[in-house]
Amino acid sequence: MAATATKIGQSGLTFDWTNLKANPEIPHEPTLQAAWQTLKGRFESNEIGFYNLPVTAELNQKSEAVALAKRILEAEHCTDVLFLGIGGSSLGPISLLSALREKVSSKLKFHFAENPDPIECAQTLKKLIPSQTLVCVVTKSGGTYETLALALIALGWSGEARWSSHFVAITDPKKGDLRKFATEKNIPTLAIHPSIGGRFSVLTPVGLFAAALAGLDCDELIKGAQHVREYCEKAPLVKNPLMTLGAELIRQFGKRPIHVCMPYSTCLREWADWFVQLWSESLGKNSKGFTPIAAVGATDQHSILQLLRDGPDNKITFFIAVDEVAEPVVIPKEVQGLSFQGYPAFSILRGNTLQQLLKTEYQATSLVLTKQSRPNLTVKIDSLNERNIGSLYFAFSVLTAVTGTLWDINPFDQPGVEEGKLYIQSTLEKNGAGSSSQSFGANNISGDDDDQNSAVYRLRTLAQKTQLES
Ligand code: PA5
Repeated sequence: MAATATKIGQSGLTFDWTNLKANPEIPHEPTLQAAWQTLKGRFESNEIGFYNLPVTAELNQKSEAVALAKRILEAEHCTDVLFLGIGGSSLGPISLLSALREKVSSKLKFHFAENPDPIECAQTLKKLIPSQTLVCVVTKSGGTYETLALALIALGWSGEARWSSHFVAITDPKKGDLRKFATEKNIPTLAIHPSIGGRFSVLTPVGLFAAALAGLDCDELIKGAQHVREYCEKAPLVKNPLMTLGAELIRQFGKRPIHVCMPYSTCLREWADWFVQLWSESLGKNSKGFTPIAAVGATDQHSILQLLRDGPDNKITFFIAVDEVAEPVVIPKEVQGLSFQGYPAFSILRGNTLQQLLKTEYQATSLVLTKQSRPNLTVKIDSLNERNIGSLYFAFSVLTAVTGTLWDINPFDQPGVEEGKLYIQSTLEKNGAGSSSQSFGANNISGDDDDQNSAVYRLRTLAQKTQLES
C-alpha cells in the first residue's frame, strides 16, 4: 500500500508522508493490533491518563482551570503573570500561547521562568511589580528543584500578605511539597491528574490555565483533541498514520536516527521545542531513540538546509505547514518613491502575501530534499486556531505513545531525568542550608555506589523497590 496524504478525521490536520520513502512498508496489522491493544490496556486501567483526557473532565480539569482564570481576570488586580516551571511543566504553556498568539485577547503580559539562571531571574523580577503580578508555580511532582528554587525566590519577593491572592499552584492533587504548602497557606490550586505525565500534560491545567488567562477557548482545545481521539477509535489501524508512521521511522532508524522538526511558522517555533522534549524523553531508552532537532522555516533554510540536502543522509525532516492565517500581509504593489522597473527581485514579490511566500518556501524546501532523495514528511494544519492546535498536541502524543510501544519502550517514564534529580538532591543535602561555597565541577556530585547516603545507592534502592511493587 502506498502512503499518501491522510486527513486525521474531522481535525484540521493532514499527515502527508509521500516523500518519506517511495514504497513504505506498512507493518502487519497484527503487529499494530498488538501494540495498540497493549497501549489501550494501559489507558483503560487508568495507568496512563492522557488518551482519555479529551473525554474525561476529571482528567483534563478544564472547568476548574477556566473558573479560576475567570476569577482572576475579574479581580483585575494583576497586569502580569509569571509562570514558573520546567520541562513538561513549561514547554506546553509556552508553545500554546505562542502558537495561538493571533487569538490572545487578554491584556495580561505573560512571562516564563524555567531555568534557575541567576541573571535571567534577577532581570525578570526587576521588570515586574509584586502587587501587580500573579505567580503561577507549575510542577507535577511538586519537588523539582529548579522550579521550587524560583518559587521560593518569588514568595520572598512578593511577600506573605500576597501569597493567597497572587499565587496559584498547579501540581499533583495530593503529593509533594508544593501541594502541602499551598494547602497550608490557602493558595489556590489546580490539579494535574497523577496518571498524566509532564510532557503529555499540555491539555490539563498546565496549558489550559494559561490559555484561559489569555482569553483562548479551552473548549475548542479539548474539542481538537477529541477529533483525533475519535479518529483513532474508528479508523482502521493500517490506514491511520499515527499508528503506521512510527513503524516506518523505526525501520529507517539504523540509517536515519535524526529527526528535524521544521514548522513553517514563527508561531510554531516553540511547538518544535515541545516536540523535541516529547520525542527525546519518551523514546530515548534502551539504546534506542531518535535525536530531534528544532528548526523553523523559512529562517533556517539559511542555516540547516544545506546540511539536510548534502550532508550525511541520516536525517528525516518533519515539516509543519500552515495553510491559512487571518492576516496574510500583502507585499505592496506600489510603494511611494519606488519604481519597480529595473528591479527584478523587487518586482517578483509585489502583490504577493507573506503567507504565500512562506508556503512557497516550504514547497521549495520539500522539493529540494525530495529531489535529493532525502526523506521528509509534512503535517498540514488548515489554520492556527484552538481546535487545530489541540489536535496537533494530541496527535503527536498518540504518535509518540504508539511509536514507543511498537519499539518495545515505555514512552511514559524518564529514569534518566529522575536519576539527575537524585544526584542534585544528594549534593544539596551534603552542602546543607545556606552553603554557597561549592566549587564548580561534576566531581561534587556523589555517585558513589557503596555510600548508603549517595544518590546512586538511593536510586538503586528505589529501582528495586519499584520493581517489587510492580
Ligand atoms: O515530562 C516529564 O515528566 C518531565 O519533563 C517533567 O515535566 C519535568 O521533569 C518537570 O517535572 P515537574 O512537573 O514534576 O516539576
